[in-house]
Amino acid sequence: MKNKRIVLITGASSGMGKQTAQYLASCGFIVYATTRTPNKLDDIKQDNLIPIKIDLTTQESINNTIQTIIKNHKKIDILINNAGYGLVSTVEDVTEEQMYDQFNINVFGVLRVSKAVIPIMRKQKSGLIINISSFLGKIGLPLLTLYNSSKYALEGITDSLRYELKDFNIRVHSIMPGFFDTKFVRDNLQINQNTFSQNSPYKHIVSSLVPTIVEQINNGNNSIEVAKLILDIIEDKNFKARVTAGDKAKKFIPIKKELSDEDFERRVREYYTI
Ligand SMILES: NC(=O)c1ccc[n+]([C@@H]2O[C@H](COP(=O)([O-])OP(=O)(O)OC[C@H]3O[C@@H](n4cnc5c(N)ncnc54)[C@H](OP(=O)(O)O)[C@@H]3O)[C@@H](O)[C@H]2O)c1
Repeated sequence: MKNKRIVLITGASSGMGKQTAQYLASCGFIVYATTRTPNKLDDIKQDNLIPIKIDLTTQESINNTIQTIIKNHKKIDILINNAGYGLVSTVEDVTEEQMYDQFNINVFGVLRVSKAVIPIMRKQKSGLIINISSFLGKIGLPLLTLYNSSKYALEGITDSLRYELKDFNIRVHSIMPGFFDTKFVRDNLQINQNTFSQNSPYKHIVSSLVPTIVEQINNGNNSIEVAKLILDIIEDKNFKARVTAGDKAKKFIPIKKELSDEDFERRVREYYTI
């Protein structure tokens, strides 16, 4: 028990987080699986997997959760920042609250948890942080400006932290998934009512883009791919800084790198008829 590696993963009640928590627990890691509502994980009775409540919007809740882990194990080896949701809204429609909430979870939540875990990893002179970003952390799409910018920010966090933490033997990585069949559309996609109203001047983009994206997520890749990728990153100290996961990310990120911004935009416009 003493030598087992301790994992903290956020947003572990469904999708990639849940799959990863279960997979790593089955590989012998002790996994603290955070959620706002731990009874969502009541169905899982698995050795080494411990559901734990966290509210990513308050540093106090995060600190309390981390103190519980430290009391039990005196260390945290791996932090996986996975929790996140998507807001679908035009910029002119978005409310102050929606804007702030999107960043409060996808960006500030990551910073708060990292802020609490980094001193522990620094003192133990080792650690690994994996941020679950998105291929939309490198590629923009209409109606997803807030989600996009939150994931672009997360990419920046990964890059900066890699410099900041290297001397303390703390590795930082980003995974950029494409489309994955999780509860993201069913439970964690929020829509702005004005953007989706019949009178919206953006009706054309909404009707051509949104059903396609929803369909792509619901028929997306299986989350086990991300779980296995996370294990690869854990076990390979020389793993590259960021990696794509899933068919669409593997296809579009290299194209984005090759083409000019304008040519890439043309390709995306054709693809989604926008
Ligand atoms: N599915 C995709 O196609 C896709 C593609 C690229 C990137 N991603 C990213 O992958 C990560 C995992 O998503 P998923 O697809 O596995 O989605 P999911 O099945 O919907 O799971 C999302 C998790 O995030 C947590 N979460 C959502 N909103 C939250 C909030 N306001 N406060 C705290 N926690 C919140 C949920 O935890 P609770 O139990 O607290 O609700 C849930 O466990 C996200 O960061 C997402 O942006 C997903």
